[in-house]
Amino acid sequence: RPRVLSGIQPTADSFHFGNYLGALRQWVDLQADYEPFFFIADLHAITVEQDPKVLRDRTRRAVAQLVAMGIDPARSAIFVQSQIPAHAQLSWVLQCLTGFGEARRMTQFKDKSAKGGEGAASVGLFTYPILQAADILLYRPHYVPVGEDQRQHLELTRDLAQRFNHRYKKTFRLPEPYILKATAKITDLQDPTAKMSKSASSPAGIIELLDEPKASAKKIRSAVTDSGTEVRFDLDEKPGVSNLLTIFSAMTGRSIGEIEGDYVGKGYGAFKGDLAEAVVQFVTPFRDRTLELLDDREHLDGIIAAGTDRARAVAEATLRDVLDRVGFLPAS
Ligand code: TYM
Repeated sequence: RPRVLSGIQPTADSFHFGNYLGALRQWVDLQADYEPFFFIADLHAITVEQDPKVLRDRTRRAVAQLVAMGIDPARSAIFVQSQIPAHAQLSWVLQCLTGFGEARRMTQFKDKSAKGGEGAASVGLFTYPILQAADILLYRPHYVPVGEDQRQHLELTRDLAQRFNHRYKKTFRLPEPYILKATAKITDLQDPTAKMSKSASSPAGIIELLDEPKASAKKIRSAVTDSGTEVRFDLDEKPGVSNLLTIFSAMTGRSIGEIEGDYVGKGYGAFKGDLAEAVVQFVTPFRDRTLELLDDREHLDGIIAAGTDRARAVAEATLRDVLDRVGFLPAS
């Protein structure tokens, strides 16, 4: 079966609706037809300062959320990036194939380092996309399901794969991004032209999957819309309403046109109330399952150990090819 691979950072106590609709839902769906590898990107997390205890806790919480969402450990290898040294090792080799200017063009570094200035950012934040390329290429996946913000990193990954294959010998598959247009960029509820983001959104702008369901409902009811009354998808004139329509459609499986039709003459209040209800219906059982999984640490750690074993075998085989082709002596 063709492979899919993707990762998520353990940088918050909870995933949010951008993560879920932009990426994680596709992870769940793709399990049926692909051989899946899904991991928690804890090496990426430390590109900005993390409290060790909190990081450990969030890594387990991330795994619990994946399982609660429907990632099936029997089918998918669920693993933790730092437990497979091949990621960091391949990253070094790829760093040596990456131009400084090429790395500098990555917009996420520009965005993330904008606040404190480039000098305050870590070198790890700068080389972050190269580690991501290593994450991907080790598993030779066909598809990488992500949100729009990862597209540029996928392009770099393909460039590096091609460069290595050309310079040495064909080793890597060129992976395709798997980005669903409708939900590729979920926006902030309070600032609907900006991405919903763990690091940048205000608490009122972000719906966390593990929030109290009531709190999420309230955030939706107080989401920024515009001064009109018409529920209509229009990204330029009504970015807030359009974002809510996107979420509504994704949560209910109904088309945006149908939903617009339902609320003709009814105004924003009824629309937001029904969306809040749909979100509550989803997050309530999700939250219960996650908390249950977190209560059984042994079971959770068993899932991680099994997934990591499966992934490690694949990663190490690719890494051996790479090290040999680069010209390193075989380790005894
Ligand atoms: P991360 O942890 O920021 O986000 C995880 C996934 O959620 C998507 N996403 C969104 N999609 C739509 N709308 C949003 N507002 C939104 N916010 C986040 C992201 O696109 C992502 O798919 N660099 C990656 C983690 C990573 C990775 C990898 C991914 C490390 N190595 C290898 C794929 C393959 C990241 O920081 O995602």
